[in-house]
This record gives sequence, structure tokens and C-alpha cells, in this order.
Amino acid sequence: MTEKRIDTVRLQNLAMGFWQSASLMAAVEIGLFTAISKGAGNAAEIAKALNITERNADRLATVCRTMDLIDTAESGRYRNAADVERFLVEGEPGYAGPWILFTKPRWDKFGNLTEFLRQSEEAVLGQYEGLTVAAARKMHEATYSIGMGAARRFVRQVDLSNRNRVLDLGGGSGAYSITAAKAHPHIEAIVFDLPPVAVVAREYIAEHGVEKQVTAVGGDFTADTLPDGCDVAIMASNLPLYSREIIGKVIRRAYNVLKPGGEMHLIGETLRDDRSGPLGPALWGLAEAINGSTGLAHTDADCIGYFKAAGFESVTVHEFIPGTLSRIVGTKPEI
Ligand SMILES: C[S@@+](CC[C@H](N)C(=O)[O-])C[C@H]1O[C@@H](n2cnc3c(N)ncnc32)[C@H](O)[C@@H]1O
Repeated sequence: MTEKRIDTVRLQNLAMGFWQSASLMAAVEIGLFTAISKGAGNAAEIAKALNITERNADRLATVCRTMDLIDTAESGRYRNAADVERFLVEGEPGYAGPWILFTKPRWDKFGNLTEFLRQSEEAVLGQYEGLTVAAARKMHEATYSIGMGAARRFVRQVDLSNRNRVLDLGGGSGAYSITAAKAHPHIEAIVFDLPPVAVVAREYIAEHGVEKQVTAVGGDFTADTLPDGCDVAIMASNLPLYSREIIGKVIRRAYNVLKPGGEMHLIGETLRDDRSGPLGPALWGLAEAINGSTGLAHTDADCIGYFKAAGFESVTVHEFIPGTLSRIVGTKPEI
């Protein structure tokens, strides 16, 4: 029996992982995939479309080819991989470029991760302390570009036909509320988010013409009074931003304002219970060291625990976006 030879290849590839991120982000920023979609099929044509040298076009396209972001058709001409064509071609309805660039502002800070790991100060709101409307607008350009697709999936998966009032905690652009309101004209929804974000949510609500159904309220869900009279609460994509204690508290606060018989959906990046993966939730948790918050990665079992401790019944975990997001749901008992 031959023993598996131990070498450094895996470790080297991990150490150079940030070069891959940089290549993808640069390709999005410079418009490589848009150019290829419009017909640029070789380095010379890409160079012309992007106004860069042919050598740099060749370098970038070669890396993207090895990362399977583009491939070569039988003709030998470059074409985008299916996901790239759908999500990274600017001007198309599925364009999610802002989301791919969402983490880029943390680039330099991740370079100093060791220093952040040595810090011990924590602020409850972490990266959101002192948030401005302009920063919230930029942030939610990115969350909106990915959130509308997730919201459509939520509305397909969850039967809201007998529900009347949705509380969208940390609702951001309002993607979930807007989509629910459009799918169910009888539904009212409240986006509850930090005051600067509520300003931005109102812009998206107006853009979609759902002002009669969807409102935005500014507040901190860890501390401020939450709107009552809702029969659905949604909290999507802010799980790793807070400690176990705080998430448990927010779920309890939501439980307290929900109507009896109401349901809560927590959509978040969760770890498997043995904490062996996926990588995404672990990285979002690690990023909170940089943001100086209390946040970390939570497991499915942690979330079930928060729901049960709050008083929710029939608590179940559903795969929401495979490998990325789970949806934990529980029902507040009828009196
Ligand atoms: C990643 S975004 C998700 C937005 C939206 N739920 C979605 O899935 O598209 C997280 C949101 O949670 C909000 N948030 C975080 N902490 C909050 C708090 N303490 N009170 C209210 N909103 C909060 C942020 O302002 C941000 O809009």
C-alpha cells in the first residue's frame, strides 16, 4: 500500500486564495464578462473592448479560464460559464456585480487580520456604528442585487396567503417585504432597520411602487420597541453579526411582539452542528473580528435553541440556498 505523500500544494493554494478573489473582482470591475458576453472572444478583442493591453487581457482571461469562470467553445473563442453569464454581465436583470464587490472594502483590513484578532474591544452594532445614509445606500445596492433573488425564493417556498402583516427585521433594501407585497396584494410589511437604512429602504419601496403596503421604520432591533400586530417575522442575513446571547434576545423580542399563531423565519449563514463547514458562515463570523462586533458563526442547533428558548414551537431547519443559507422557522403557539 502506498502512503499518500504529504506536500505543500494545498497550503500554497490557500495562501494564494486572495489572488483569486482579486482576479474575480478585477474582472467584474473592468467588465471582462460583459465584454465576453458581447462577443469579445480572444485576448485582442478583450483588450480592445476594455481598453487595456493585450498582454493584460491575456493574463486576466487566462486566470479566469483556470478558475472555470470562462471556457473556450469548440471554436477556441472565450465564452462565459453559465453562472457568470447569468449574474456577472452588466445591464442584465440578474446582474450581481455589486454583491461580488461587497466584501472589497474589507480588503486591507483582512490583510491585518492578525492585529484585529489581538483586539478585545467590542461594540454591539459593530460595522453599523455611525452608519451614514450614503454608506447604507452603497451597501444596499449590493444586498439588493442578491436579495431580490433570495426574496423570490422565500416567497415561493413559504405560503403567505393566509398571513397579513410581516415584520422584516434588518430588512435592508426591503427586498423580502417588497417581494412579499407584490406576490400578495393583501399583505402589509414593515422593514425595521437602523435609521439610515430605513431611509434607503423607502427609496426601494418607492421605486417598486408598493408604498401603500410596505413601510420602513428606523430602529435598533436589539434595543428599540418593535412594531407589534405582525403574524410573520423575517430576519434575513444578519445572523453572524451578533453573539449567541444577542441573537437569542432578538428572537425573544420578535416572539414577544408576534401575534399568537404567528411564524418567524430566520434566514442565515449557519454552520453544520459539528462545525466542519460550510466555509462561508465561518468566514462571515471571522469578519466580525474586523468589524469589532460580538458576532460569530452560529450552527443550526444554536438557532433551534434560540427559537425554543423564546417559546417557539414546531421549530425546523430548511436548506434555503444550498451551501450558503438555512431557513429556521418556528410558530408562536395560539393562546
Ligand atoms: C446583510 S443586510 C440584509 C438585508 C436584508 N435582510 C436582505 O436579506 O436583503 C443586514 C441588515 O441588518 C441590519 N441590521 C443589523 N443590525 C441591526 C440592528 N441592530 N437593528 C436593525 N437592523 C439591523 C443592517 O442595517 C442591514 O440592513
